[in-house]
Amino acid sequence: MNGEMVSWSGATIHVSAHTLHYGSGVFEGLRCYETRAGASVFRLSEHIDRLFASAEAYGMKIPYSKNELADAICETVRQNGFTSCYVRPLCFYGSAGLAVHPRNCPIEVVVLAWPWGAYLGEDSLERGVRVTVSSYAKFHSRMLPTTAKGCGGYLNSMLAVREAGSSGYDEALLLDEAGNIAEGSGENLFLVRDGRLLTNDERSSILLGITRDSVITLARDLGYEVEIGNLTLEDLVSADEAFFTGTAVEVTPIRELDGKRIGQGKRGPVTERIQRAFLSAVSGQDKRYSAWLEPVARQPVAVGM
Ligand SMILES: Cc1ncc(COP(=O)(O)O)c(C=O)c1O
Repeated sequence: MNGEMVSWSGATIHVSAHTLHYGSGVFEGLRCYETRAGASVFRLSEHIDRLFASAEAYGMKIPYSKNELADAICETVRQNGFTSCYVRPLCFYGSAGLAVHPRNCPIEVVVLAWPWGAYLGEDSLERGVRVTVSSYAKFHSRMLPTTAKGCGGYLNSMLAVREAGSSGYDEALLLDEAGNIAEGSGENLFLVRDGRLLTNDERSSILLGITRDSVITLARDLGYEVEIGNLTLEDLVSADEAFFTGTAVEVTPIRELDGKRIGQGKRGPVTERIQRAFLSAVSGQDKRYSAWLEPVARQPVAVGM
């Protein structure tokens, strides 16, 4: 926390912190996996780059270098002795007045880490999840920078996922302003049609997921064509398979949309193959992707400036 290692219970801030009132922070979510080289952070430099890009989008100057933050992430995992865990760096405005303009508010930086299993439930990776289309639209880039991971943007996600949960669904799917599919409340979407993968991009107001990028590479290396363009609800309902990607959900099959079965209504063979390839990559078993893994035991970390 701001350069110091503090206990979970000691990691507190004042109630007048600007970000607590206005959602004016930026954050990242990373996973650290158990590998032969010990606990290793998946795509550390890409997450750090995105954190700095998110901060820039909100005019926030992070008072540490990328290398310092990378070291802090590895050190937090190391000192906790985790073999696998989730890591959450957060940059926020602290206390110095509650005008909406955060002038004079200090920029505080914290890194949290804790063990976190399957985000959408223990059997979600195998059985798949049930999804509903949200009545809330995904915010457009004229409202907030959609490719930045800003705290306040997650109010949009929270409303959608609570609405989905209260109707008995596992997750919400948000449409963009034009009525095309954007993404889940915290995940990107892939469809499988005739052995090809389809996914959308920033033109559909999505966060450009690092898992999405990894899956595009893995799929192409497996010989699948990956097409990038708009996705409609009709595309989803008529798809052979569909799955979510994200750091939290990894690769999670979608088995139903608003009561309609997707494909066979269970995890499909292409999804399973992608899941297996993803698991081999994150666990360091597939050496082709070892550059995606940063062992926390390695010192110092170099991620570039
Ligand atoms: C809204 C949203 N979309 C997509 C993603 C997936 O991004 P990533 O794969 O980088 O975790 C996330 C998670 O960070 C998210 O919150």
